Amino acid sequence: MTDKKFHLSWFMNFSPDEWDTPLGNGGSPWDGQFYVDMAKALERACFDYIMLEDTLMVSDIYGGDAAATLKHALQVPKHDPMPLAALISAGTSKLGVVATMSTMAYPPFMLARLSSTLDHISGGRFGWNIVTSGEDSAAQNFGMEKLPPREQRYEMADEYVDLVCKLFDSWEPDAVVKDRERGIYADHTKIHPINFKGKYFRCRGPLNTVRSPQGRPVFVQAGGSPRGREFAARNADSIIATANGVAGMKAYRDDVRSRAAAAGRNPDDIKVLFLIYPIVAETKEEAYAKHHRMVSSPRYIERALASISTVTDIDFSQFDLDAELPKLTTNGEQGSLDKFAQWGSGKTLRQLASERFGGVPAEIELIGTPDTVAERMGEVMEAVGGDGFLISCPFQRVSRRFIAEITEGLVPALQRRGLMRTAYTQTTLRDTLREF
Ligand SMILES: Cc1cc2nc3c(=O)[nH]c(=O)nc-3n(C[C@H](O)[C@H](O)[C@H](O)COP(=O)(O)O)c2cc1C
Repeated sequence: MTDKKFHLSWFMNFSPDEWDTPLGNGGSPWDGQFYVDMAKALERACFDYIMLEDTLMVSDIYGGDAAATLKHALQVPKHDPMPLAALISAGTSKLGVVATMSTMAYPPFMLARLSSTLDHISGGRFGWNIVTSGEDSAAQNFGMEKLPPREQRYEMADEYVDLVCKLFDSWEPDAVVKDRERGIYADHTKIHPINFKGKYFRCRGPLNTVRSPQGRPVFVQAGGSPRGREFAARNADSIIATANGVAGMKAYRDDVRSRAAAAGRNPDDIKVLFLIYPIVAETKEEAYAKHHRMVSSPRYIERALASISTVTDIDFSQFDLDAELPKLTTNGEQGSLDKFAQWGSGKTLRQLASERFGGVPAEIELIGTPDTVAERMGEVMEAVGGDGFLISCPFQRVSRRFIAEITEGLVPALQRRGLMRTAYTQTTLRDTLREF
């Protein structure tokens, strides 16, 4: 019998939690403790990893200024995920901790050193979500006039990953000898300069940190374009992707798996996780009522449009809400734009906004009781061919109640069906991902 278990991870950012609803949290998230508590709940539920998303700007695309993003706390304020990754690592012992760093923002040496340090602090559970950034305003925070075109960003990222891998390998596994008799901490013959000279980056090396438990962190990536998929297929241990209907998900997974095989990798070493926004409640009616309350709130449409504006650099306030969208492209998150726009569906912008987070009607409607949603997730995964899901909540505004609904409601329902692990069996994140 084949194992029908799939992997489950969580997508969040270090931003305000659900602060303005009757059952919101009320406290401040900035000391990180709310998110450490969340990570502990995910670990009790045997998630593979918590994924800390990141971007590096205050978006002023929607309506031409930052009013909407700041009013709704959409993608901003967003604090640095790396110290939070250290806190979460210290507060957990099995859960993988993946944090986002942009190849545009970090000098490769700093990224390799930070990743290596976090892989040590977490005991081999750290992952790097490799992004190239997608917004002009982020590029402008790093002295550029605008974001380089996608092709060039990936050309730079190829070279960047090559360089950091050489740094990760610059210490042989047995370089630290701690020979008390001879008084030698590390054997210098096992630590090597890399003398990297590329088109974009140069670095002497070696790294000045001890080789980390996983050798290199787990690599996570979210390539959507053909170039991005190629990059992900060559490098990633786990790929995170938008869930574009069962056929779209299957086609995406098949495509990155065949690209990986063509690059000489075992496709089973890559776990493709699809982003979903489940809504569970005691009854199906209550779950649909919750969804309805969300999308019919007066604030919802502006939030949905401003949030898609921040990741596409397209001002969605300029379009008629009750007409179809014109065909659009972006140098930013094209995949998120395509999923949002449902090209050719004939839907109005208002309808598209109401379906921003899965919604109704959607081919993969994950709204119901824990049991009905778990059942549907199992069916979808079987049709897609495997790997798993990345759970999030609309606008990433998470509450303790939402976390409990997933970890204490949905996860046990998945476990009862044999769809999810009930205990960790591995130590490192890479081994946890390769467990099945
Ligand atoms: C689930 C998911 C999470 C992502 N997280 C981030 C992120 O944290 N930071 C970021 O700058 N981009 C993020 N992206 C954008 C991707 O890195 C990538 O640029 C996007 O999927 C478009 O693919 P492309 O670069 O091949 O066009 C994410 C995309 C997806 C689908």
